[in-house]
Amino acid sequence: MTLNTVSQLLKETKPQNVEIKGWVRTFRANRFIALNDGSTINNIQCVVDFENTDETILKRITTGAAVHIKGELVESQGKGQNVEVAVNTIVILGDSDPDTYPIQPKKHSFEFLRENAHLRTRTNTFSAVMRLRSSLSFAIHKYFNENGFYYMHTPIITGSDAEGAGEMFRVSTLDQKKPPLNEAGEIDHSQNFFGKDTNLTVSGQLEAETYAMSLGKVYTFGPTFRAENSNTSRHLSEFWMIEPEVAFMDLAGNMDLAESFMKSVISYVLENNNEDLEFLNKRLLDEEKTKPQAERSELNLIEKLKFVTQNNFKRLSYTEAIDILRNSKPNKKKKFNYLIEEWGADLQSEHERYLVEKHFKCPVILFDYPANIKAFYMRLNEDGKTVRAMDILFPGIGEIVGGSQREERLEVLKEKMAALDIPEEELWWYLDLRKYGTAVHSGFGLGFERLVMFATGMSNIRDVIPYPRTPQNAEF
Ligand code: 4AD
Ligand code: MG
Repeated sequence: MTLNTVSQLLKETKPQNVEIKGWVRTFRANRFIALNDGSTINNIQCVVDFENTDETILKRITTGAAVHIKGELVESQGKGQNVEVAVNTIVILGDSDPDTYPIQPKKHSFEFLRENAHLRTRTNTFSAVMRLRSSLSFAIHKYFNENGFYYMHTPIITGSDAEGAGEMFRVSTLDQKKPPLNEAGEIDHSQNFFGKDTNLTVSGQLEAETYAMSLGKVYTFGPTFRAENSNTSRHLSEFWMIEPEVAFMDLAGNMDLAESFMKSVISYVLENNNEDLEFLNKRLLDEEKTKPQAERSELNLIEKLKFVTQNNFKRLSYTEAIDILRNSKPNKKKKFNYLIEEWGADLQSEHERYLVEKHFKCPVILFDYPANIKAFYMRLNEDGKTVRAMDILFPGIGEIVGGSQREERLEVLKEKMAALDIPEEELWWYLDLRKYGTAVHSGFGLGFERLVMFATGMSNIRDVIPYPRTPQNAEF
């Protein structure tokens, strides 16, 4: 007999012999095992004939233990499930000490579960989140595959700082105590492993641009690293980013692509992850009940996801957004931590969330930002002070996507780099794209964990990635 999964068995109706392996969630009245194997949020009830089962075996059926069960799938006598397994034989594959097993059948705080991240996917919440994470990854590849994009693997170790923010992790094999020095007394990176100073990448964009300018439509989906010291619920030091890049596409096309892409991946999980979403929806409703009325959201999780798939994103320029923010109640009443006084101010997440959650009450695409608060590679507008940037802002998240039309004019790009002290030698290959067959092109980056947060209703980014890396934390 082949091994069954819980997910398969719960869909069966006919009585049959079955064989199943999984972990005990609970064992009740020396009789009822709630068994889970990760294939679904639901457990299957396995009923032990305790009168004919060895006492020592019964004692070893504890929460967390791995078991192998052979039995018969039958119509359930009790409430709560259609079928159950009448156990014929049970073998304990791996014991679990009930006195020390951290994942007890009760409510644990997310902080506690973060400390036990190696076991937290044995809870309903985290198994649901991680199944959704997997499903979203698949939906992303599916979207691009069906729309003529090539999947490209950009390097993880790079010599360039794509975002120009200087928040990079150095990759070095030099002796840390006594690094070789050059004549100027600086660390001599010519003796380093790669013969130059290298870092972990903050973005695959620049390399993706080179492929877009030959293959047409490409995307990356890989890990990126940022050494910014921000301990917020939306920042990780290691996160996954999806970056499409398309030749001959302008900013308007970029916005269309991003909107259609976001709607498509969210629709995919609405169609395919119903049970997990229902569970997370309920979890969030319970959590919201503990909050004061004013802080509760108007839509539940599933309604929020449907809202995104069914409504157009509001598009407005940075300049329009500044006008709205300057005249907003929290600005006038000095409720924002950063007051919006003049054009040119960088938007903080409090401003982004005001626009999305209070003012428009829908996802917003902001475009045409001031050049000096955005990266060097963005296309300068005719006004000489704004660039063709776009950020997508989502409720509860703030910025989820950042992208732009790229500067395709060699001279303009060189001027920009000179103004920012970015050496041309470092990006000679990037400049070559503007020398040989340059063309309008655009792309964006979606922070994968921010998407998973949105789709699962989890409020801390540390709870949507298996092993979060944040300042002062790289456990597991
Ligand atoms: O806005 P960012 O910095 O844009 C880029 O890196 C561009 N090169 C993308 C492109 O045009 N190809 O980052 C893109 C997205 C953000 O909108 C955010 O969702 C996410 O990446 N992000 C982070 N997510 C988690 N932790 C962090 N520290 C993040 N920094 C950015
Ligand atoms: Mg950004």
